[in-house]
Amino acid sequence: MTADVVPAGERDLIRVEHLRKLYPVRRRGVFRSRQTGEIRAVDDISFTIRRGETLGLVGESGCGKTTTARAMLHLIEPTSGSAFFGDVDVLEVFAEGRREDTLKIRRRMQYVFQDPYLSLNPRWTIAQTLLEPFRVHRHVPEADWHRRLVELLHLVGLEEYHAWRYPHEFSGGQRQRVGIARALAVEPEFVICDEPVSSLDVSVRAQILNLLVELQAKLRLTYLYISHDLSSVRFVSNRVAVMYLGKIVEMAAVDELFSHPMHHYSYALLTAIPVPDPDVPAGRSVLVGEVPSAMRIPQGCRFHPRCPAATEVCRTVEPPLAPAGGDRLLACHHPR
Ligand SMILES: Nc1ncnc2c1ncn2[C@@H]1O[C@H](COP(=O)(O)OP(=O)(O)O)[C@@H](O)[C@H]1O
Ligand code: SF4
Ligand SMILES: [Mg+2]
Repeated sequence: MTADVVPAGERDLIRVEHLRKLYPVRRRGVFRSRQTGEIRAVDDISFTIRRGETLGLVGESGCGKTTTARAMLHLIEPTSGSAFFGDVDVLEVFAEGRREDTLKIRRRMQYVFQDPYLSLNPRWTIAQTLLEPFRVHRHVPEADWHRRLVELLHLVGLEEYHAWRYPHEFSGGQRQRVGIARALAVEPEFVICDEPVSSLDVSVRAQILNLLVELQAKLRLTYLYISHDLSSVRFVSNRVAVMYLGKIVEMAAVDELFSHPMHHYSYALLTAIPVPDPDVPAGRSVLVGEVPSAMRIPQGCRFHPRCPAATEVCRTVEPPLAPAGGDRLLACHHPR
C-alpha cells in the first residue's frame, strides 16, 4: 500500500486526496501571451488529520504549504484532488456553489493568517471585525452578540475595552490574538494556523503558541499548524508532515520524526535548527544548495540534487510515499 491510497480512519476529521495546484507560467508576446511552463506548487499530495490532533506541516519557504492550506479550504481553486471534512467533499460543495452549504463548511473550517496586520481591516474596530462573522453566519442571536464578543476577547487573553480599538493600536502579539478570536468567532472544529507566529517578535511567540495549545484543549479543536520553523512545529504538533517542492516526503509522530528522521531532507532540516538542542541528531547540516524552482522540479526524487545519499535510481525514479514502520510514511530509496 502506498499513501496514494489513504486509509479512511474513524478518527480522521480531514482527508486530503491527490491535491494539486499548478500555476501556468505565461510569456507575453506581441499579440497574445502563451503558456511557457507551469509552477507545480502542490504536486499530488494526500494526508489525513485526526480529530483533536495537530498536524504540523513543515518545509522551506516556497515548498507549497500555504498553497496546500488555501486549496483545502477553497480559498484558491485547486487544479485537481479532493479535501474531505468528515464525509463532506469540501471542494465539491464549493464547486456547486450553494451558498447555504458553503457557509456551513466555512464555519467549520477556519484560517489564522501569518500576518494579522494584513488580514485585519485597519478601518474597523476590533468589535466590528469580531462581529462580522456573526453577521454573515447568523449563528448567534443578536441579543447575545455583546456577551459573546466579550467572551471571545477573554478567550484569547484580551479585555473588553480592546473591542473599541483599531488594529494599529495593538502590538503584533495582540493583533494575532484578534486574528485567532476572529477564527474562533464561528465556533469552528478545524483551524489552519499558517505561520501564526512567524511575523511576531521572538519574545511573544511562545505566548501565542501556548494560547493555541490551550484553546485546542478547551475547545477540542483540530489544527493544521504550518511553519518553516521546526522548533514551533515540534512544540505544538502530534504528527508532522515534511514537505519539499510540492510533495510530502515524510510523515510521522513528532517524537519519531525528531529522534529519528528517515528522509535525508527531514534530517537536513533538523540539523539546520540553529539553537543547540540535545535531542537533535548531532552533525553538520547537509542542506546545501538552493531550493530548485517549482517550475523546474528535478526528475526522480526531487531532493536528489541536494541529497548526499543520492544514487542513480534517485535521479530517475520518483520514490512513492509508503509506510515505513509504525505510523510513519516515507518517500526515499535509501532511508537514513
Ligand atoms: N498566485 C501564484 N501564482 C504563481 N505562483 C505562485 C502563486 N502562489 C504561490 N506560488 C508559487 O507556488 C510555490 C509554493 O508557494 P507557497 O504555497 O506560498 O509556499 P510556502 O507557503 O511553503 O512558502 C512557490 O514556488 C510560489 O512562488
Ligand atoms: S530517494 Fe535518494 S535522493 Fe531522494 S532523499 Fe532518498 S536517498 Fe536522497
Ligand atoms: Mg506560506
